[in-house]
Amino acid sequence: MSGVRLEGIVKAYGAVQVEHGIDLEVQEKEFVVLVGPSGCGKSTTLRMIAGLEEISDGDLTIDGRHVNRVAPKDRDVAMVFQNYALYPHLNVAENIAFGLRIRKESKEQIAESVEEVGNILGLTPYLERRPADLSGGQRQRVAMGRAIVRRPKVFLFDEPLSNLDAKLRTQMRAEIKRLHKRLGVTSIYVTHDQVEAMTLADRIVVMHDGRIEQIGSPMDLFLNPANTFVAGFLGSPPMNMVKATIVAGDQGPVAELDGQRIQLQQIPSLTNAVGQQVTLGIRPEFVSVADQNDPNMINLDVDLVETLGSEALIHANLQGETFVIRTDTVGQMHILDGISGFTIDPKLIKVFDAKTGEALPGQVVAQ
Ligand SMILES: Nc1ncnc2c1ncn2[C@@H]1O[C@H](COP(=O)(O)OP(=O)(O)O)[C@@H](O)[C@H]1O
Ligand SMILES: [Mg+2]
Repeated sequence: MSGVRLEGIVKAYGAVQVEHGIDLEVQEKEFVVLVGPSGCGKSTTLRMIAGLEEISDGDLTIDGRHVNRVAPKDRDVAMVFQNYALYPHLNVAENIAFGLRIRKESKEQIAESVEEVGNILGLTPYLERRPADLSGGQRQRVAMGRAIVRRPKVFLFDEPLSNLDAKLRTQMRAEIKRLHKRLGVTSIYVTHDQVEAMTLADRIVVMHDGRIEQIGSPMDLFLNPANTFVAGFLGSPPMNMVKATIVAGDQGPVAELDGQRIQLQQIPSLTNAVGQQVTLGIRPEFVSVADQNDPNMINLDVDLVETLGSEALIHANLQGETFVIRTDTVGQMHILDGISGFTIDPKLIKVFDAKTGEALPGQVVAQ
């Protein structure tokens, strides 16, 4: 049972508290991604789990054992850093073997482990090379090899792909995912990149200012964000956010804004919110190009259509702000020229309290 449990974890540097009570339970074999803007406390959380940073308050349990006061080397975790932290004077094989030498494993055992890890990571041709003679991607692989070879209970990754160019990052991301499928080691991965979080995670933990905003599967967070912070953080292009007032319409609640009326779904929390100021969250992908006869059509002033190949981004104006729509192009290009009418499925419009930013209850979209 190599899970990791954080209960009420607090971190203070002197008088400044930077984490305010983190509760998280990572299951055995799970891949959990901590994501959030720079400075929200991702690295600090990971370093506390690794034992590189003291825990100010709360309880940390790894594999059922309370480890607040256990030294890093005795926690059975392995960490991979953004800057790789390889030994420049050692070759690849020696870098990978380093931890095993410290543990005083036999020469034969070490050779066998290095060979196996070299195979897993495609490093066999480079075992004699020094880090300086490797590409960024190869160095990152060596750093992962050094973690894998120790067969830890938990892998901790702190922005391991940030130093790579975009293409290599995509490739390494897939490799990490495959590796996790193959080895099944409990993993906690930190990134500020929402695409990495969406693609890698079994569950995503969205952090903000030293607190957890929401925990859930990637699709659940994408479809059912608990608040405007999570809604705006996940998804690209980001969710459109517009201020509106809820009024009563013929078919239930309607959002009124900028001379437009947008039909909302008929659920009690919205029906009972007539008169309330809200923020509508509308994903660019959930807006459709309208059939002329649709009664729920809204008209938008379009100022730009960017064609990207299979899809196009339509930039329209709503309340003086840009409202982005993402649509397919194939078979539709003739419609996009001069387009102004759109429809939105009421079930896919998220309604947030304008003051608190919290989603009104009961708006669950099934995955
Ligand atoms: N050694 C330190 N002393 C004081 N404050 C720190 C220290 N390390 C990190 N912090 C603060 O803790 C907060 C969280 O930092 P960090 O965990 O590195 O954020 P992230 O990894 O999400 O970018 C930030 O406000 C940062 O300034
Ligand atoms: Mg960090």
